Amino acid sequence: MFLVFTVHDDSASLSAVRKLLADFPGLTRSVSFRAPSDELIGIVGVGSRLWDQVFPDSRPTSLHPFEEIRGDQYTAVSTPGDLLFHLRADHIDLCFELAAHLSSRLDGHAEVVDEVHGFKYFDERDLLGFVDGTENPEGDDARKAVTVGAEDPDFLGGSYVIVQKYLHDMTAWNSLSTEGQERVIGRTKVDNIEMSDDVKPSNSHIALNDISDDDGNDLSILRENMPFGSIGDRDFGTYFIGYAKDPGITEQMLRNMFLGNPIGNYDRILDFSAATTGSLYFVPSVEFLSSL
Ligand code: HEM
Repeated sequence: MFLVFTVHDDSASLSAVRKLLADFPGLTRSVSFRAPSDELIGIVGVGSRLWDQVFPDSRPTSLHPFEEIRGDQYTAVSTPGDLLFHLRADHIDLCFELAAHLSSRLDGHAEVVDEVHGFKYFDERDLLGFVDGTENPEGDDARKAVTVGAEDPDFLGGSYVIVQKYLHDMTAWNSLSTEGQERVIGRTKVDNIEMSDDVKPSNSHIALNDISDDDGNDLSILRENMPFGSIGDRDFGTYFIGYAKDPGITEQMLRNMFLGNPIGNYDRILDFSAATTGSLYFVPSVEFLSSL
């Protein structure tokens, strides 16, 4: 479950938020302990505006509002968000229970501006039908990719997260052949094999998102995208969520996608997917929250 709140500016609301942040690890443990094998994980992110109000004395170095990226064809919009809750478990009841506690604690102090209940779709596929997450870093590599280190000692162990809610144009997507869809993503559909560099189009999704620094080191983020949808509203979506130790890495990927690399060579996935939200948060470590 993904929940985005905007928080009121009055002092009672800010102090309710501060208290909730302090209690968040404990609340998560209370719900989790009722079904330990379901592996409930709760993550809370704080947006730039709220951070300055709740913690005026110090701020994570790279925390800033998500900036809109306006390409010639498509825009990565920036939308309001002060608190992001990312709740995961093997069964939705745990997420729902924790979300209910959180929202009751914020009653009168904050509004839910976005709520998405994602689901697993067959073998880790998104609603475009492709396996999503293959090239995610794992284990120690993942930890290194997402956690703030000695470069910002006061916020050690924290992370930055960017979320965007995408809606797919399934009619246009389904009018492509399977080979056409594979050229959009840069991998084969059924068996999930990456295309070789001489065949992979330069505007395919993975060509534009496989990035490295000036010394040739891979720059990675950890994605936990989830499909979501509503049959009645004809919504078929992907909730993009990317964690990184430096939000600049995710922003570079977004510039490649929306502005193009080189400029104008934008990500073909955007011809079938519209970003309807976009926001950025700092995720403090459990130690930080517990120390409040
Ligand atoms: C419409 C929303 C999106 C969909 C459906 C989607 C889907 C996919 C799929 C199917 C893959 C290939 C398998 C894999 O390695 O996961 C992929 C790779 C990737 N995506 Fe996305 N994605 C979306 C948005 C984004 C955004 C917004 C970013 C970054 C800001 C991003 C970053 C990446 C990266 C870094 C890879 C791995 C590239 C590599 O092969 O090294 N994706 N995505």
